[in-house]
Amino acid sequence: MESPSNQYMWNPFANMGALAGNAVTIVGGVGSTVFDSAGRAYLDALASLWYCNVGYGRTELAQAAAAQMSELSAFQTFEFFSNQPAEALCRRICDLAPMHGAKVLLTPGGGSDAVDTAGKLVRAYWRAVGQPNRQVIISRSHAYHGMNAYGTSLGGIPLLTEPFAPLVGQVEQVPWDDPAALEKAIEMLGEARVAAFFCEPVIGAGGVYPPPPGYLASVREICRRHDVLFVADEVITGFGRVGEWFASARFDLDPDLITAAKGLSSGYLPIGAVIAGGRVAEPFWRAGTTEVFRHGYTYSSHPAAAAVALANLDLIEREHLVARVAELEPVLASAVAPLADLPSVSAVRAGTGLLAAVELAPEMTADPTAGQRLVLAIRERGVITRLLRGVALQISPPFVITESEIGRIAEVYGDALSSLG
Ligand SMILES: Cc1ncc(COP(=O)(O)O)c(C=O)c1O
Repeated sequence: MESPSNQYMWNPFANMGALAGNAVTIVGGVGSTVFDSAGRAYLDALASLWYCNVGYGRTELAQAAAAQMSELSAFQTFEFFSNQPAEALCRRICDLAPMHGAKVLLTPGGGSDAVDTAGKLVRAYWRAVGQPNRQVIISRSHAYHGMNAYGTSLGGIPLLTEPFAPLVGQVEQVPWDDPAALEKAIEMLGEARVAAFFCEPVIGAGGVYPPPPGYLASVREICRRHDVLFVADEVITGFGRVGEWFASARFDLDPDLITAAKGLSSGYLPIGAVIAGGRVAEPFWRAGTTEVFRHGYTYSSHPAAAAVALANLDLIEREHLVARVAELEPVLASAVAPLADLPSVSAVRAGTGLLAAVELAPEMTADPTAGQRLVLAIRERGVITRLLRGVALQISPPFVITESEIGRIAEVYGDALSSLG
């Protein structure tokens, strides 16, 4: 298909004054490689936006969508209605999730919908159990919880939050790495006012920060002691990216809620999920209850998206891709470790699944154009990356990446960093 020059499409996060007419139009992909409309191949170090975990060109996922749409394109699930792929998917997610008595709300748009659903659900839960004053939600600096109202309000990246504030009220923030600060915040607010703590087990878009040793165990224990709901935002980490089905299993979190999206369908169609543990579900599910969670979207539980997600989970299981991530974790970590010796690099973070970041030295980021020039230099060498929080290069490849492709990513980053640094 001939590419219409993009004079009309307003890209997310783009300076359209500079981009219009110059976008890179991606037309296809296979494995960990995508192709643009000029026929150039790029190794995708990002799995698009942390989601294309099974790689590109999986026609069986397209067939799953086509088969489902031929039978039932979509039908709403408000109040009475249901569909078989969504029912099967919720059952499958409950089997995989490390939670007891779980129930699943499927969301249509991805992680932001899941986070906003979870934000409303924790508040609705406390009202339902007779503690209506527990409404404050606490999140962390560097956090990214998506772009809808709750997610934007909970975000810890000022550039993404400040232009839109104030949005959702009764939201507090604590430093990302300090359990004592969480405890202090709960005590200052009064625990009877605190609804939930939202936590990415590995911070993603804020710059890939694996949890400091002991951090997650401490904050989990603090939440339990103060009866604050623990919400694990696993939009990136869910469905295998840290070498287990969920980071909550790897770090033994036993969360009250999990938010998930991306890897659930590997992005072949958009879909997200809120997985509610038995405690949160109970007031809404018990026989005779009058409590109704009055929330949902036109395309909640979309059958085609659910069918694709089921096919995606089948594929991950059949090809043992979660174990593959665990195998590749040290391969990626040792491939990127030498980049830390470059003068243009201040830190390399890796070692938790297929996630890494290369943080640029302050001398580099002092020039506001340097980061984007670096992203471009890497793309000119045939690898797609991007800058997180203006300071760190992301690495989050598809699970099907080969060891030699991981080596190539590290080599190209090193080459571009040396040429610009
Ligand atoms: C941890 C986390 N939560 C929520 C979101 C929002 O997801 P989406 O962009 O699919 O709406 C993201 C997206 O990157 C994320 O990383």
